[in-house]
Amino acid sequence: MNVQVAPSILAADFADLGGAIRAAEAGGADLIHIDVMDGHFVPNLTMGPVVVAAARRVTTLPLDVHLMIERPEAFVDAFAEAGADGITVHAEVAPHLHRLLQQVRETGVRVGLALNPLTPLDVLQDALPYLDLVLLMTVNPGFGGQTFIEGSLERIARVRRLRDELRPDCRIEVDGGIGRATAGPAVAAGADILVAGSAVFGGHGSVAETIAELRAAAAG
Ligand code: DX5
Ligand code: ZN
Repeated sequence: MNVQVAPSILAADFADLGGAIRAAEAGGADLIHIDVMDGHFVPNLTMGPVVVAAARRVTTLPLDVHLMIERPEAFVDAFAEAGADGITVHAEVAPHLHRLLQQVRETGVRVGLALNPLTPLDVLQDALPYLDLVLLMTVNPGFGGQTFIEGSLERIARVRRLRDELRPDCRIEVDGGIGRATAGPAVAAGADILVAGSAVFGGHGSVAETIAELRAAAAG
């Protein structure tokens, strides 16, 4: 599978989100990553379905919605209706995970499951058959601009082995602290989608240049 780059608009200028999304699309992004936070599961508040609907109007790229929220079942349908192409929920908030993944599946979007940095990977053994995407957090969720947790590389490799064995079509996305230095090792360990917020929108080089650098790093 080709490695894909998913700029996270969390690091974009919210006063010009349309411009940021267009720049990402023109710069070669494969997906637009949208970080939804509720102030409960994570200590930050960000965007709701209205922002997904607004993004939908300015790009044809798939919208990759990452729900860092409690009670995701209350919002999955609204995000799908707003135009999400994929919805990723966190394992840590879902005691009824099978029901939740089925709910996401029934909306017709791609089904993703996210795991925090130290959440046991065991759940994937049973959950992978229901998934199109595994999102491995490589920082603690809640904020952009944090440092990649080194131990994540070993986890990526373990997920890669499970994925190859149980669900070869499922993609492995890494999220947090991805930039020029970490993209290559993450891909070498087994990642197929690189989420990058501050690296892409943080002001060092243009959006297009940074996406190209991430791709080059991913290619080794
Ligand atoms: C963190 C979010 C990330 C964040 C990544 O909770 O899930 O998607 O935007 O930001 P960077 O790339 O700056 O670490
Ligand atoms: Zn994210």
